[in-house]
Amino acid sequence: MSQEDANLEARLAEQEAFEPPESFVEQANVTDQGIYEEFEENWPECWERAADLLSWDEAYDTVLEDGNAPFYEWFTGGKLNAAANCLDRHVEDGRGDSVAIEWEGELGEERTYTYDELLDEVEDVAATLRGLGVEEDDIVTLSLPMIPELPIAMLACARIGAPHSVVFAGFSADALATRMNSADSEYLVTCDGYSRRGDALDHISKANEGLAGVDHAVSDVVVVDRLGDDLEHDLADNQHDYDELVADHEGATVEPVSRDAEDMLFLMYTSGTTGKPKGVKHTTGGYLAYSAWTSHAVLDIEADDTYWCSADIGWITGHSYIVYGPLALGTTTVMYEGTPDYPDKDRLWELVEQNGVDIFYTAPTAIRAFMKWGSEYTEDHDLSSLRLLGTVGEPINPRAWKWYYKHIGNEECPIVDTWWQTETGGMMITTLPGINTMKPGSAGPPLPGIDARVVDAQGAEVDAGQAGYVTVNNPWPGMLRTLYDNDERFVQEYWDEYSDEATDEWVYFPEDGAKIDDDGYITILGRVDDVINVSGHRLGTMEIESAVVGVEGIAEAAVVGGDHEVKGEAVYVYAIPEDGYEDREADLEEEAMAAVLDSIGPIAKPEEIVFTHELPKTRSGKIMRRLLEDIASGNELGNTSTLRNPDVVDDIAEQVSTD
Ligand code: WT7
Repeated sequence: MSQEDANLEARLAEQEAFEPPESFVEQANVTDQGIYEEFEENWPECWERAADLLSWDEAYDTVLEDGNAPFYEWFTGGKLNAAANCLDRHVEDGRGDSVAIEWEGELGEERTYTYDELLDEVEDVAATLRGLGVEEDDIVTLSLPMIPELPIAMLACARIGAPHSVVFAGFSADALATRMNSADSEYLVTCDGYSRRGDALDHISKANEGLAGVDHAVSDVVVVDRLGDDLEHDLADNQHDYDELVADHEGATVEPVSRDAEDMLFLMYTSGTTGKPKGVKHTTGGYLAYSAWTSHAVLDIEADDTYWCSADIGWITGHSYIVYGPLALGTTTVMYEGTPDYPDKDRLWELVEQNGVDIFYTAPTAIRAFMKWGSEYTEDHDLSSLRLLGTVGEPINPRAWKWYYKHIGNEECPIVDTWWQTETGGMMITTLPGINTMKPGSAGPPLPGIDARVVDAQGAEVDAGQAGYVTVNNPWPGMLRTLYDNDERFVQEYWDEYSDEATDEWVYFPEDGAKIDDDGYITILGRVDDVINVSGHRLGTMEIESAVVGVEGIAEAAVVGGDHEVKGEAVYVYAIPEDGYEDREADLEEEAMAAVLDSIGPIAKPEEIVFTHELPKTRSGKIMRRLLEDIASGNELGNTSTLRNPDVVDDIAEQVSTD
């Protein structure tokens, strides 16, 4: 490192607050500090501002209908179509030649879709789905990697009013089956395979295995041919080749179905405290308005931007901020199929340079990996097109924030650290990049119109600096409406903790810990339920535990998250072998690994599986998870004398390799 760099590094390390660069502020979409007050004084009508970013077939009568809280309704009476908002209206505005999707394949292929071309393709696919019998309100499952057919299929579903349920392509066959069963979904769009680090990866066998686990009749499966001759596979009778089928509908005109604002746009399954994934329901009006509004206000997206969010569309981030928000605003959204280190560790920066990306949104885990690889990978690339950077998915440590700020943003781009969840539909806590001072490590204040607080166990706001829990004390348009087919669980999971039914006060509980400072900036401390966050992916420890105890010879298991330098958290499994299996730990370990991969997928792969004859338990018999977390993280262990079995702690700690 040069002396100059070292000085800069030292200065940055000390600095705790950063002002938005003047060059950014001058052109920002939102610059008026008064916006917070405006939203507060004019709540909930302030949300018309979000709705105004959309084109409505019929105007709504009511902004917020709260008569049946917490089953809120937004923009009631309004009618619109999400695909028409993302496509047709831009074409009608004479922007048909602008690029909608710029796709980069892992092997260096490129596909560019203008708004005209994307609309045509979406109509063809919409006609194809209809031709198969898909009707309004039928749920279509999409299990596709990062190829253009994924957003095309999503928009085709939206066009005909068929909600989609996208299942992350990396999920296992079991996970696909569970989600199709839960949603009673009779249609699947998938693909033969895709490439990962240059190798052809079979996807159709996994999809077929998943289909075998679906407990109702699946009428049709459409298979995209991504790999061509690289993967030979047979199609069953109800399986169709995407290209052939879509070619039959080439040039079709499919009028967008006018949907009620509250009609379901999609389902997105996410992990919770119990073993069963939750089907989060998002709506056409509120969700689309909210993803468009936050894309405009926080990501500063405009139609002539080239914007890139490096998430996978299989997660909510990709839904809101690769597909719906950016396309609703008519911008160019970049999609990348591969991994950041293939063929080399500068792939992302090469793509930024090549496409002239001006807004870049990624996860802290990726930034920590870039940091570890070293700044030489950024140096050969001209990143000067960038004007705004964002992060999402997990807390970002100040060191990673500063690395991002300096090495990617060249100290000229604001960073938005955006806190939100699958359930919130869009960003909730973050600075507005043209207005607020940035404090590395702290997401920032709640967005205008969002009443997020940090409270104690009784719901009273905590003092600055004290740890507490995040709550959201008013509804917002992007909020989930319910859990699919399970209103009861919806109320129980999100509203039971802090609401007062007697006074009809409803408080949303996201299950995150946080603290707040004197300026109202919120620092997220992480989940307070049995959910862990591995590389920005949300995993239910109970789901992993049930996979592990399903292995013959394992009597009991506890799964916790331990600190990890790059992933944020990693999965640690503590397992007790059954009597007679003590000598077979190596086999059990292998089987437990396989069980986790089979039931969830590689994202849940345990960092370590530790065998023990007992788990540390309180006198009342509860497993001391906090202690297991400390062991996994290599933390100092506090007083263990209140345990029923304190001796076991040292035994376990000795086995965990913390380096
Ligand atoms: C959980 C939600 C938001 C879309 C991607 C993940 C954690 C999210 C941040 C952030 C600290 C964050 C929270 C939240 N989280 N963003 N900026 N700082 N933590 O969505 O899978 O629904 O996970 O991710 O713990 O509850 P998700």
